Amino acid sequence: MGKVTLTGKGRRWTLGGHPWVYADDVVKAEATPGELVSVHDPAGGVVGWGLYSSQSRIALRMVSRGPEQPNRELWASLVGAAVAERKRLGLLERKGACRLLGGDSERIPGLVVDRYGDVLVVQSGCQGSDLMRDFIVGLVREALPFPVRAVLDRSDASVRKLEGLAPRVEWIDGKVDDLVRVEEPDGLLYDVDLVEGHKTGHYLDQSQNRRLAAEGAAGERVLDAFCYDGLFGIRAALAGAEDVLCMDQSASSGARVAHNAELNGVSAKVRFERANAMKRLRELAAEETRFQRVVVDPPAFARNRREADGAARGYRELNLRALQLLAPAGLLVSASCSYNVRREEFLSFLALAARDSGRDVYLEGLTGASPDHPVLMGLPESEYLKCAFLRAR
Ligand SMILES: C[S@@+](CC[C@H](N)C(=O)[O-])C[C@H]1O[C@@H](n2cnc3c(N)ncnc32)[C@H](O)[C@@H]1O
Repeated sequence: MGKVTLTGKGRRWTLGGHPWVYADDVVKAEATPGELVSVHDPAGGVVGWGLYSSQSRIALRMVSRGPEQPNRELWASLVGAAVAERKRLGLLERKGACRLLGGDSERIPGLVVDRYGDVLVVQSGCQGSDLMRDFIVGLVREALPFPVRAVLDRSDASVRKLEGLAPRVEWIDGKVDDLVRVEEPDGLLYDVDLVEGHKTGHYLDQSQNRRLAAEGAAGERVLDAFCYDGLFGIRAALAGAEDVLCMDQSASSGARVAHNAELNGVSAKVRFERANAMKRLRELAAEETRFQRVVVDPPAFARNRREADGAARGYRELNLRALQLLAPAGLLVSASCSYNVRREEFLSFLALAARDSGRDVYLEGLTGASPDHPVLMGLPESEYLKCAFLRAR
């Protein structure tokens, strides 16, 4: 059994509740990559247990506190609690989709499990989660109220490089050759390409914001910029929007939007334009095109703190362009998925964009990811998505 000894600072940090321990706070590691290790303070006492990484700056991801070694019962109770929470949220409808297990924020380090209907997609991000993958997936299957048809491992996120791990995409049980159909409880339909799609196939974290962003869209002209599979726009069309323009620079996005619009019977109202949204929004504003509702949901502008300055400029500029496109009393729904841009910073960029626009802009709401992407107090990294609802007079 491996053993890791912390510095005094590492011990204090761990007692503070953050589940990650950085390599600088480790004095000695006698462990193999990914191993479950006992974690000791400098005097030799056991602080708790964690998964060790031999390569990452994050040397340890804590699983439990105190001397008792985590056993099957502990892991089963963590998984059981996560699945029970989705049940409480009404997210276990068999045809629906949700994040079942949120990785570090639910004390299962590095391992995310998403569900599309009865197909699971697993994403492993650290050495420890690679070793634990099959065991945890087994516990998830036990906790679910219905049988699982197939399980895909979509461990191809770039964070794996930091752990010295190669990308991996493989079916680990069964195989689904087609797109997977999802039906949300209110009838919204969409198909997901689990192997080729972004993330685990779809942006599940925006499910709730899409519903909120569609409220009151009846009769409106809507722009869904950075649309991916177009579900902000399609939801607006289903809520009665008259005309919806979905925009993304990726070629595959057009096919996804057209397909999902047809599934929901709103093809006549939903158009797609393949364009660089940063550039195209400026052109549309210059042509005096106006929308009653604009959604901007760009990719992360800051993947690390060093990119934060560029991100500040990017968010300010993008949101200014979006505000310029809004008709009087129009709604801007503006998202940021950069963890490195904190909530207050994002609001400050939006305030600068509002000032640049010369309009009175009101913050009607600020949300985060859907509740199946839980934010663990003590793990600020689990709060990455911000979504502001702004009304411009
Ligand atoms: C965060 S995702 C959007 C998710 C989407 N709104 C949803 O609800 O599922 C960002 C999208 O922006 C697209 N994208 C990235 N850079 C872009 C650009 N300059 N112009 C337009 N689209 C861009 C990507 O192809 C990706 O689909």
